[in-house]
Amino acid sequence: LNIGVLVSGSGTNLQCIIDACSRGELPGRVACVISNKADAYALERAQNAGIPALHLDHRAYSGREGYDEALVAALRGFGVELVVMAGFMRIITPVLLDAFPMAVMNIHPALLPSFPGLHAARQALEYGAKVAGCTVHFVDSGTDTGPIILQATVPILEGDTEETLSARIQKEEHRIYPEAVRLFAQGRLSVDGRLVRIR
Ligand code: GRF
Repeated sequence: LNIGVLVSGSGTNLQCIIDACSRGELPGRVACVISNKADAYALERAQNAGIPALHLDHRAYSGREGYDEALVAALRGFGVELVVMAGFMRIITPVLLDAFPMAVMNIHPALLPSFPGLHAARQALEYGAKVAGCTVHFVDSGTDTGPIILQATVPILEGDTEETLSARIQKEEHRIYPEAVRLFAQGRLSVDGRLVRIR
């Protein structure tokens, strides 16, 4: 399976997926990494792994659709079959979604449908929740609303800060994101309305 990863930042999730592929834990390879930010450390991670790393600057395009057309062209150029959003801080449009139907994944640092959007760990703390976690989901046209593939929970502990809770959540992200990609690559996911079935 050819995987295209979209990033904007440090790329720790990207790294876990690259590592899972190179350890032979999933039948796929990261075919390209695309960042909308030139200084994303994720691009260096890709280069270090010998993976084509592209900077596509969203500011060079007039609208979201135009940017997504450029993304689709680049992804297709690398033969991408699954698009993995890993800390990609852009809202995508049907231009990208229609090009990869039920083949765009995202990870969100909360137990969706609670706390969508930005600063999810902070939202959970401020709400007074006792558990938090992360969600891998297929992307649909909403923000953090698509069919849920995998979730993991972590406790919220007395004295937690946004940083300590985020670190605990990220540890679980690094476990379930490669796992979700593996299930997709093995052809074990099917989507029935909102429900993702795992065989
Ligand atoms: C993760 O916390 C993910 O949940 C969110 O963005 C962050 C990306 O981190 N969508 P990294 O770039 O993979 O280190």
